[in-house]
Amino acid sequence: MSGRHFLQIPGPTNVPDRILRAMDRPTIDHRGPAFAELGQKVLSGLRQVFKTEGQVVIFPASGTGAWEAALVNCLSPGERVLMVETGHFASLWREMADRLGLQAEFIETDWRHGADPAAIEDRLRADLGGEIKAVCVVHNETSTGCTSPIAKVREAIDAAGHPALLMVDTISSLASIDYRHDEWGVDVTVAGSQKGLMLPPGLSFNAISDRARTATKAARLPRSYWSWEAMAGPNASGFFPYTPATNLLYGLAEALDMLSEEGLDEVFARHDRHAAATRRAVEAWGLEVLCQDPACFSSSLTAVLMPEGVSADHFRKVTLENFDLSLGNGLSRLADKVFRIGHLGDFNDLMLLGTLSGIEMGLRLAEVPHRAGGAQAALEFLAGECRFASGVAAQ
Ligand SMILES: Cc1ncc(COP(=O)(O)O)c(C=O)c1O
Repeated sequence: MSGRHFLQIPGPTNVPDRILRAMDRPTIDHRGPAFAELGQKVLSGLRQVFKTEGQVVIFPASGTGAWEAALVNCLSPGERVLMVETGHFASLWREMADRLGLQAEFIETDWRHGADPAAIEDRLRADLGGEIKAVCVVHNETSTGCTSPIAKVREAIDAAGHPALLMVDTISSLASIDYRHDEWGVDVTVAGSQKGLMLPPGLSFNAISDRARTATKAARLPRSYWSWEAMAGPNASGFFPYTPATNLLYGLAEALDMLSEEGLDEVFARHDRHAAATRRAVEAWGLEVLCQDPACFSSSLTAVLMPEGVSADHFRKVTLENFDLSLGNGLSRLADKVFRIGHLGDFNDLMLLGTLSGIEMGLRLAEVPHRAGGAQAALEFLAGECRFASGVAAQ
């Protein structure tokens, strides 16, 4: 097909040309002075994105690696962790905890809401022996489009007077949705390169509090590749204990420049606006947003429920084959029931309108019961919100 593919899954996201060009350079000696400069730039730039003064670690790995690093650096075999079943990704993190020999306990949700801080507080108050060593929450559940209120989760832990560490997955929220590692008292933040940071997959991150660094000293789960301690020494001068993903780091340096040029608050406002426009389209189509709590609506993706008995995967096939538009699929219990619209990363009004137009045409071609006018509703919302509207009459 001619023209550019529309990659509107909720990550990996579109990689801007500027980042592609930044990576298209010769790989350098990762033990030489030019690398040290690059290493220091990205490590300090990331602190601003996580909003932390503390240590940030970069792994050449997908997000799953940073999940594992969070657990193995802080915990010991058989220890109990409290997790919230917000959806597919929270479930995968729980399975990993079980496989690592931890005792993972789930607070269930219906996959249509975020984590409930009151339920976390209740469970922690009942843990009189302090057996729960960590609370793990996915900030933005990519399978459902529901966010969880992390600052309130911290308040709940404090209200219960419980010493558990707080671990948060921001894989599909970092650099898209407001997030504050230090201010919200998060101990370990988990993130990945391929969503809000606009990079290809292949890097993942941990931001680490002082309490979490202290916890590593007693933590007995085996770790080698994922060891924060092994990273700290070389990272201090911009180097890595093993061969880093140098060209992805070139891209990361560029991404950090782009985010700081736009300003993080502007980036978040842009994501909020595109999410609001998307929900207007869904409403106009007469379809249902999966997330049922407006306070938890995700600004990086919207999961849309198909009418009963209509195949979401058939509809996605139609949009791909006709319009070269990739939409996210439903995962595990949501398979074939929802499609997910990614509106995060390097994205603008016309990309959103192209996406929504492709969806609207796809709904028609796949004969999904709906009303026309969703793309138009989004268009009107976006035009009404434009910053540079001029009141000057045509000459
Ligand atoms: C919220 C969340 N957590 C974890 C992961 C797993 O990350 P990865 O696939 O990069 O290993 C994903 C992937 O999409 C995700 O969205």
